[in-house]
Amino acid sequence: MTRQLMEEILTRRSVSARLLGDPGPDDAALEKILQGASRVPDHGKIHPWRFIVIRGEARETLGQVLRDAYHDQEAAPSPAKLDLEATRFTRAPLVIGVVSRIVSPHKIPEWEQTLSVGAVCLNLLYSAHAMGFGANWITEWYAYHPKVRAALGLAENEKIAGFVYIGTASMKPEDRPRPALGEVVSEWRAPLG
Ligand SMILES: Cc1cc2nc3c(=O)[nH]c(=O)nc-3n(C[C@H](O)[C@H](O)[C@H](O)COP(=O)(O)O)c2cc1C
Repeated sequence: MTRQLMEEILTRRSVSARLLGDPGPDDAALEKILQGASRVPDHGKIHPWRFIVIRGEARETLGQVLRDAYHDQEAAPSPAKLDLEATRFTRAPLVIGVVSRIVSPHKIPEWEQTLSVGAVCLNLLYSAHAMGFGANWITEWYAYHPKVRAALGLAENEKIAGFVYIGTASMKPEDRPRPALGEVVSEWRAPLG
């Protein structure tokens, strides 16, 4: 079991949203995935995050908000580009918006709350993977657009930490380069003398 889990950790890869098709998780699988995602270190037990589930026709409705928002921010977008923006959420059967809701002021520093939200996103990837699905944690431009924020019902103190696209992977991605441990690891030793 331990060896299997380590193998998963050492081989997991994100699968691009456009390569995530049907079937997506059913209600029971979704609940498990969200429970798995919620099991993260959380200093102060304040769970400074929440999930927004986007699936079914809601993906298209929200896509129209993206189309509008894109129209606002670009001088003269082509109809083809607008169509593409409108279909972003339909790339996968399920999208989970992970929202950070930093509690401030609070004795737990904002930085630590933010780290907990990142842990949720990664756990969401692992939980989806463990349930046999591919997943992709992305933000793209629309995570930051005021119209999209409003449509999602985000409060002032809330931010999109990621849209995690989940579905059945249509292909297995190649591995990608990882930093050599020598680049990221050092060992602290007491100074001589
Ligand atoms: C907060 C955050 C936001 C990201 N947003 C994007 C994005 O908008 N577009 C993109 O192509 N990749 C984005 N990525 C990177 C993807 O998750 C990418 O698929 C990942 O780095 C692949 O690595 P993996 O196979 O090790 O999971 C983002 C990553 C993080 C942590």
